[in-house]
Order: sequence, then structure tokens, then C-alpha cells
Amino acid sequence: MAAYDVAPGVAAALQNFTLPERLGFGLVPAPLMFTAEWSDGVWTRGTLQPFGPIEILPGARALQYAELVFEGLKAYCVGRSWPNLFRPRENWQRFKRSAERLSMPPVTEGLFFEAIDAVAGSCRAFIPRESGRALYLRPFLYGVEDGYLLRNSNRFRFTLIANPVESYAVGPMRVALERVDVRAAVGGVGAAKAAANYAASLRASNAAVARGYTVALWLDAREQRFIQELSGMNLFAVIDGELHTPELDGTILPGITRDSLLILGRYLGYRVIERPIAIDDLLVQVAAGECSELFACGTAAIVCPISVLADSNSREHVPKELDVVASRLREALLAIQERRANDPFGWTRDVGPLPQNCDWVSAANLDLRRGVG
Ligand code: COI
Repeated sequence: MAAYDVAPGVAAALQNFTLPERLGFGLVPAPLMFTAEWSDGVWTRGTLQPFGPIEILPGARALQYAELVFEGLKAYCVGRSWPNLFRPRENWQRFKRSAERLSMPPVTEGLFFEAIDAVAGSCRAFIPRESGRALYLRPFLYGVEDGYLLRNSNRFRFTLIANPVESYAVGPMRVALERVDVRAAVGGVGAAKAAANYAASLRASNAAVARGYTVALWLDAREQRFIQELSGMNLFAVIDGELHTPELDGTILPGITRDSLLILGRYLGYRVIERPIAIDDLLVQVAAGECSELFACGTAAIVCPISVLADSNSREHVPKELDVVASRLREALLAIQERRANDPFGWTRDVGPLPQNCDWVSAANLDLRRGVG
């Protein structure tokens, strides 16, 4: 018996799904999703159901007051028949911290992994097998009670959707420094994976794209002097052969890829330094060649080189190297994530098994279609 309910139509949704060649990032929804509801201090049993529209009242706090936090992690299935995850407990812990920052009831660890195992396990035939591709899992928690009083909902929903994806970034990033808007201030919600942070970043992202750049780089709210992050990615600078990244000061999302690169970088022999990085100093170091390389990292983007850093006056600063250290780190990290290399840190973990009588997968004949067990 599954610990969760299985809605009608699950086997048919699996049966009717075919994995397209072009995936993009988030464009192709996996055929199943998972949902549970919270009220009066308890979570209901979860439900595995076909992917589709959700019901929500127009006045729900999630819609009116952005009472929504989310996570992003990947299930990998490269050269193997059963998927694995990468440091998923870190995602659960961050999800919990994000919920707590917005005074929302955290999703329990058991429910979080039940949702992942149910969706990733049932959809395993649709997880791309090519290196760099994966099933991106997007758990989110949102207030569904309606009403305009400025207080938390009394009812919440946890939903997990998934998408077979390619890497988020296509080619090197062209970064535009944002000197007008700010993303997050100390004491705010910058360190939480709150949907509102991403909404706050959109105007600068659009302005950057309109100027021919890929993404905006944020500066601190108080002095506009220190670099923070790139909306959905953290930033690293290679300075005199060392890896430098802004320290976590409560405004920056504590990226799991960021943390993994600090550990892996040290393991590969780099000195790694978390510190406040003043933008003016960094630009001087790029010009002098002391900062030889810049790169971005995140679950979606993995490790992505930065080809240019443009100031608001459109002056472009071009690091002398592109994707030298970044590619070394990317290869090493991806090989661990995809279980093509040893995992010296114990970072990967199998997706949990499906319940014994999970007839929805066999009814869809998936393993026969895919020829894997
Ligand atoms: C992730 O890397 O998982 C993110 O949440 C970034 C998002 C902009 C796709």
C-alpha cells in the first residue's frame, strides 16, 4: 500500500506521455504531480495525480500576498535505470527555512521525500539519459486561504511538479550590473527561496536582456557596493587562482551548488574564500587580469561561464579567460551528480523505491517501452 493516494488517470497519463527531443528548461511538464494539504496543524495524505491545472481561490494569500516558497532539485538517470538525487536533504532544509521565514508550516521531511520518490520513481522512464539533462523537480508550498487580512493563511498546499530539462544556460552568460533596483536587503527575505524574490528581479532582468545581456548582477541594498548574486544563480570569481564568492549575509540565496563548489573546489586544491566582494575592486581586478575568470552556478545552470560583465554605462569588462576553472568544476560536479565518478562526500542518494504494488507504472507498460528495469 502506498502511503499516498493515487488519483484516477495516473497510468493513462504515463502511457500517453512521450519525451520530446527539445526540452528547454521547464517547457515540458512531466505527466505526474504530487499534492498534499495542510490545515489545523496537520498534513493530509498526499496524492499522486496526473499533471494539470490546480484549483485556487482568486483571493488566496499565495496570489494576493506572494505567500509562496519553492525549491529546485534534479533527479539524474545517466547510464542507469534507477534515478538518483544530489544532496536533496539540503533542499528540504532550505525549503523548511524558507517556509519559516514566511511563517508558513514547513513540509515534513517524510512528505517532501514521498513526493519526490512518487514523481521521480513513477516518471523514471522519462528522465533523460544524456549527461547534462535531468528531471527537474519543483516542490512548492503556498497559502490557499482567501482573504485580504495581512496574516498567514490557515490552509496551505504543497505541490511537486517536474520537468525533463536541458541545462538552464545555453552558452556563456553576459552579465549586466544592476545599479538602480535592489533584490534584497539584510533582514529581508533574500536568503529564502520565496517567489517574491524572483518577481523583484524581473524588471532588471528585462532591462538587461533589452541591452543584449543575459542576466542582472545585484549589489547590496545599503551601499550598492558589494556584489550579491544573479537572481537565480550565485557568482564566483577566480582571483589569483583562488575561488572567491560573496559571503552569505542573509541577502543571498544559499545555493546548494555554491556550497558544493566550495567543498569540491577545496578538494581539487583551490583556496576558496567567502567574503564581501566590492564591485569596484572586482572590476579593477578584471582589468588587471588578477581576476581571470567569472562564472555562475545553480541547480538549473550547473556551472556556467561568464563572458562579460557590463556596467550600467555599458562599459564592458571582459575576464581574460573563459570556462577554464569553470569547466573543470562543472565536469567534476556533474560527474558526481550523475554518478559517473566516485562520490567522496556521500552527496548522491537513490530516489526511494515505489510502493510494492505500484500498478500504475506497470499498467502504463513503461519499463517495457524503455527497456529498463
Ligand atoms: C534553480 O537553479 O533551481 C533555480 O531555482 C533557478 C531558477 C531561476 C530556475
